[in-house]
Amino acid sequence: MNIAFFEVKNEEKEYIIQHLPHKHTALFFTEPFKPELLKDHADIAALSVFVQSHINASDIAALPNLKLITTRSTGFDHLNISELSQNGIALGYVPGYGDNTVAEFAFGLLLAVCRKITKANARIRLDGDFEIHEDYEGFDLLGKTIGIVGTGRIGTHMIRIANGFGMRVLAYDPMPKPELSHEMNFTYTSLDNVLAQSDIVSLHVPYFEQTHHLINKNAFSKMKQGAILINTSRGAVVDTAAMLEALQTRKLGGAGIDVLEGEEYITDERSFILYGKQADQSVKNIAENLVLVDMPNVIVTPHIAFYTKEALYRILDTDMKNIASFAQTGKPACDIMASRRIVSSAPSSGPVAT
Ligand code: NAI
Repeated sequence: MNIAFFEVKNEEKEYIIQHLPHKHTALFFTEPFKPELLKDHADIAALSVFVQSHINASDIAALPNLKLITTRSTGFDHLNISELSQNGIALGYVPGYGDNTVAEFAFGLLLAVCRKITKANARIRLDGDFEIHEDYEGFDLLGKTIGIVGTGRIGTHMIRIANGFGMRVLAYDPMPKPELSHEMNFTYTSLDNVLAQSDIVSLHVPYFEQTHHLINKNAFSKMKQGAILINTSRGAVVDTAAMLEALQTRKLGGAGIDVLEGEEYITDERSFILYGKQADQSVKNIAENLVLVDMPNVIVTPHIAFYTKEALYRILDTDMKNIASFAQTGKPACDIMASRRIVSSAPSSGPVAT
């Protein structure tokens, strides 16, 4: 197969060249997928992409030989699954390459927010200022309540870490795992209870219709005064305008955010301004995100929770398994359509038994 890899760094390119079976040929791009990048490559049979490659049916119209798109990520909301599958494209992804990887980062964000680590470090770098300023005062995690929204692979690891810190753990998931709550000493409750009782709320849900703006104005109003929000899931799980308001009014005491709503526009502002459709919604997202990154008590990182050396190689191994499996059987080893059948059977909302 002729395979085009997008959003590939040098280290990844070398690994792919070493491990991809010789019967396949590879084309590499550092940037996200755009149809014009393949205008001279109509023979491409597979695309391997990452989260900034947003693809729908019209984007692949000029690729008649395309049969497989595999994303090197756990989330696949950047792919228009229904359109692509209706066009006969097989869809692969990478579930569970590093539950610890993302959870460790989410906890790092939490520590940085609640202990003002980046703020203090920035002042030392800027002014050589070693004074202990009043706004460096943090709070202990021992004995605090953390609310985990989504107890899948990453959420579960988050609970493991929180236990190590001596925290009380509450969780919400429409598909709870009662055996896990015994084993790991946490309590399932409704989303409303999680919001009302938690000092910290950490989001670990996939992004799809039911989780769009799951944390909205109404949800913020139910949260504890001064609570901290950590989001390493997907930007649009949170209504950014509502989050800005909650931060402004101090209802939200701080936030650690690795994923922004409309992050694709902020990462490529230049082409957005030059060539983008400039829909009102995207302009609004950019403006909100620019306000967010400047707010005190907010730490924003550029979607890097996945990014460790170990996780990177695990991701590439699964990506290549997807390609190999597709070449042999016509199905990727980790098939998005199979996972979607599981997700779509989940109830969309509503409280669960404690
Ligand atoms: P998972 O599929 O193992 O777990 C997701 C959990 O969310 C499931 O238990 C599911 O029942 C639950 N869920 C579904 N709808 C819900 C709702 N409305 N409320 C509460 N829970 C709900 O997924 P995993 O591996 O834990 O990853 C979670 C998400 O993290 C991914 O979908 C992806 O968007 C994001 N992610 C972000 C990364 C980053 O670099 N920032 C890296 C990897 C994943």
